[in-house]
Amino acid sequence: MTKVLVTGAGGQLGRELTAALAELYGNDQVIPTDINENAASLYEGFNFEVLDVMDAEKMAQLAETYEITQIYHLAAILSATGEQKPLLTWDLNMKSLLNVLELAKNKKLDKVYWPSSIAVFGTHTPMENTPQHCVMDPTTVYGISKLAGERWCEYYNKKFGVDVRSLRYPGLIGYKSAAGGGTTDYAVDIYRSALKGEVFECFLKENTYLPMMYMPDAIKATLELMQAPAADISIRSSYNVAALSFSPKEIAESIKKYHPDFEIRYKPDFRQDIADSWPDSIDDTTARLDWGWQPDYGLDAMTEDILKNLQVSVS
Ligand code: SER
Repeated sequence: MTKVLVTGAGGQLGRELTAALAELYGNDQVIPTDINENAASLYEGFNFEVLDVMDAEKMAQLAETYEITQIYHLAAILSATGEQKPLLTWDLNMKSLLNVLELAKNKKLDKVYWPSSIAVFGTHTPMENTPQHCVMDPTTVYGISKLAGERWCEYYNKKFGVDVRSLRYPGLIGYKSAAGGGTTDYAVDIYRSALKGEVFECFLKENTYLPMMYMPDAIKATLELMQAPAADISIRSSYNVAALSFSPKEIAESIKKYHPDFEIRYKPDFRQDIADSWPDSIDDTTARLDWGWQPDYGLDAMTEDILKNLQVSVS
């Protein structure tokens, strides 16, 4: 029987992925964990546990107690916050992944999911339709930790047979929870400003293209990858996955179709350099061929869905 432990279950991705896993396997089969004990309030009806992912012993205890068969290890410090705390970001992102991989090896867990990111790419990476295999020279400590993490995932798979799977997420855009500490977060915050009638101050320049993905597509990609037969998974570092590519100007234009008075101003900060080092768009042919990846949402479909649903929770 599948029994899943989720780390970082209080985060932007964790909240939505835990809900999807609970729908798939049942609340009793999913153990949400987070370092923040306030996340417990999100998980009534679950066996929520407080877990610092640096604490390998507690992680192992929880795996034992709940007879865990799969771990979704989502806890991490993202790109913008990571630049403020480089050594902590390296320690947390790397040590926690190694804790999970060791646990998976020693307890012979069925599967591990760990997110990588477009942040693994860098200034010498081809920026358009970035291929699965290419030069990777990340400039952020977050990107460095994700690239190293990808190598560790492949290593644990090849050397120890750990069935670890991963996606290089683009910027993830959802309306159910706020984003935290990323360079792509403007595309989450912009919708909240639009609905509040505020002028949105964007920390990136108007023509900065980045790969992005609407949360339902990200959840679909994750679950499809995790449910694919192991023999179909040819990439054990992390898969390129693509859905959208747009600039702040284009997302603002998409919002204006529904809120014609919406205004955006540009005030680039240190995150501009991070964005400039990341691809504009991603080639995800391998994911499409290996396990049939295909996104559902274009930019306007995402905007329409968010504005319709977010309105309810804002008012
Ligand atoms: N969304 C992440 C960030 O901006 C990228 O993985 O840090």
